[in-house]
Amino acid sequence: LSNGLGMTPPMGWNSWNHFGCKINEKVIRETADALVRTGLAKLGYHYVNIDDCWAEMHRDSKGFLVPGKSNFPSGIKALADYVHSKDLKLGIYSDAGTMTCSNKMPGSLGHEEKDAQTFADWGIDYLKYDNCNNNDLKPTVRYPPMTRALKMTGRPIFFSICEWGDMHPALWAPKLGNSWRTTDDISDKWESMISRADQNEVYADYARPGGWNDPDMLEVGNGGMTHSEYIVHFSLWAISKAPLLIGCDVRNMTKETMEILSNKEVIAVNQDPLGMQAKKVRMIGSREIWSAPLSGDRTALVLLNRQSWGKPVPIVAHWDDLGIPPKMFVEARDLWKHETLKTKFVDKIEAEVERRSCKMFILTPTFS
Ligand code: GLA
Repeated sequence: LSNGLGMTPPMGWNSWNHFGCKINEKVIRETADALVRTGLAKLGYHYVNIDDCWAEMHRDSKGFLVPGKSNFPSGIKALADYVHSKDLKLGIYSDAGTMTCSNKMPGSLGHEEKDAQTFADWGIDYLKYDNCNNNDLKPTVRYPPMTRALKMTGRPIFFSICEWGDMHPALWAPKLGNSWRTTDDISDKWESMISRADQNEVYADYARPGGWNDPDMLEVGNGGMTHSEYIVHFSLWAISKAPLLIGCDVRNMTKETMEILSNKEVIAVNQDPLGMQAKKVRMIGSREIWSAPLSGDRTALVLLNRQSWGKPVPIVAHWDDLGIPPKMFVEARDLWKHETLKTKFVDKIEAEVERRSCKMFILTPTFS
């Protein structure tokens, strides 16, 4: 969507994966504080996004949405002011249907202009717009009114279309939104995570600055995967130019979680100005090579071993598959070890990768 937003994939936090419906204004404020305190805000995690369950079940007598009386007693405007005072941005959630997915608050179908104006008046910067209770109307009928309504407010609001990939949103959402979900909901398990990465990869050609494929939010730090599985999760989301929306409780993160989420070099791949999503350029059973061009003639590379058992396996990436000219000497930077390898590579690069793990590199052509 050409509203000037999302020139790189959005980064921030969202309440759903960790808190579900158990959210309140204290959690949101403390999360904003924690993003600043931990340094995550400085690394680019700017959006603080409230998901489902923030509003009362009924609109007021004039038809306006009402923030939850017990969980958001100070209202959303006050929260936006607080979040803005920390130099962060506030996101909110609604649904292109009669009720949201929790069935605990109204949706915006038929109320698009009123709700968009309400969000703008509150100072909202990001809207996630879900797909439940949709009266069997097509998404291409239900989403455009909100695109228009947001535009009419004159406030720049990142528009995240949450259609779950049912109707191939990559084919129609780029002109309507800044991101579109290509998958059903993620859960905090390897199979769920890796299958979403797979489904999302198919649409790589549709991602570009201003509009991104969205394989759903991060589960890093929620406890259901091993450390190396979470490294795979973060590496694949980064190289796939997916939104990096943290889904854990950032007020209480382990050192390991923080190390993953704060890897500057991996974040830089995600935020590269070229904005090209990675593709699988070679699959050999459970060994996969994901790669994407980066600005400055560089190449981002993930060598992935999906096998859940066995010894480390060698994985070889050939220049031919990566689009690097033959005979080119290449320098390789290991983004998880934070080291530049001593040897220069010609024609191919090979590394040993442990089970359910990956290695991630940036390859830079050199002339020696
Ligand atoms: C849907 C969305 C999720 C989340 C929940 C909230 O399932 O896909 O991301 O927003 O609704 O109820």
